[in-house]
Amino acid sequence: ARGTLRDGFGRSLQYLRLSVTDRCNFRCVYCLPGGCPKARGQPLSAEEIARLVRGFAGLGFWKVRVTGGEPCTRADICEVVERIARTPGVRRVGLTTNGHRLASLAAGLRDAGLHALNVSLDSLDRARFAEVTGRDRLPEVVAGIEAAVAAGIPSIKVNTVLLRGLEDTELDRLLDFTRRMPVTVRFIELMQTGDNADFFRRAHLPADEVRQRLAARGWVPQEKSPSDGPAAMYRHPDHQGKAGLIAPYSTGFCASCNRLRVSSTGDLRLCLFGEEQVPLRPLLQRDDQEAELWRTVERAVRAKPESHALREGRCGVARNLAAIGG
Ligand code: GTP
Ligand code: 5AD
Ligand code: SF4
Repeated sequence: ARGTLRDGFGRSLQYLRLSVTDRCNFRCVYCLPGGCPKARGQPLSAEEIARLVRGFAGLGFWKVRVTGGEPCTRADICEVVERIARTPGVRRVGLTTNGHRLASLAAGLRDAGLHALNVSLDSLDRARFAEVTGRDRLPEVVAGIEAAVAAGIPSIKVNTVLLRGLEDTELDRLLDFTRRMPVTVRFIELMQTGDNADFFRRAHLPADEVRQRLAARGWVPQEKSPSDGPAAMYRHPDHQGKAGLIAPYSTGFCASCNRLRVSSTGDLRLCLFGEEQVPLRPLLQRDDQEAELWRTVERAVRAKPESHALREGRCGVARNLAAIGG
């Protein structure tokens, strides 16, 4: 093993976000309104993923989050999670999902060793949910979250993208969800991507409106802990769950960045909105390639940018977040 990896700005990188497919069965308005584009090549196999994660663990990465597209469209998702969880050095495995198959998968994912589950839930109103995601699946997703709580998955978070109109009734309804559920609800400021520029102009709801609402409802900001990543966290004395705010347009957001990303076809990406891609797949074909993988990653991270350029309207090469795993 090589020990901690640092980028050119002294940030230590320990968190790998790994997309395991670019396929998705939802059509969220801000992400894939026209549905999934044609596949861009075979996703990494469970074997290639195991080698990749072993290599990153050797570089000091102890947290891995599985993303997509929709990771649960993969038939072998539990095997993938299990192989990651079994990798020496990996202490936390997370999965980010739209929740469509969660009710039947929750127990299997827990048995596979999943620690942290993030479920996208943009509305608790059935009609609005269907409008935002293009799928009338709210009951299934809520049942999935309940199944995950029942299965005892240690950390469960809900992700809600901030869209105009949410501040009317939905914001309070989602906060209310945390009253009786031991679940964190995080509001994510809509980000502009290559594909959603027009929608972004219409629907962007600044994080500040949520900050004010949280304060007005008695939510108290928490000290930032390193495991919060870029989210600001809040607590309320009457609620079991916490609330969080992910505000990428706020200054300083990138200062605590601790992550690297790998696409479903094995390309290393240094930033969610970056231009850089370094193909790693050729280095995942044999067990004796680990040292070369380390050298390639070490060389690449020197070019990790200090910050994204979202405020200047530059959103990198990814057309949408499904193509890169959020
Ligand atoms: P945990 O801290 O492990 O819960 O993960 P997370 O918040 O990074 O994971 P999740 O996949 O649930 O992502 C939540 C939202 O944060 C998504 O909309 C991501 O696109 C966004 N996000 C995650 N990482 C970054 C990042 O590095 N930069 C920006 N701008 N947004 C990010
Ligand atoms: N802006 C903000 N969040 C987004 N997500 C997908 N696309 C965007 C975007 N353009 C969210 C999803 C999911 C998480 C991984 O990323 O809703 O919760
Ligand atoms: Fe699919 Fe997630 Fe994109 Fe929605 S945000 S279309 S669930 S990848």
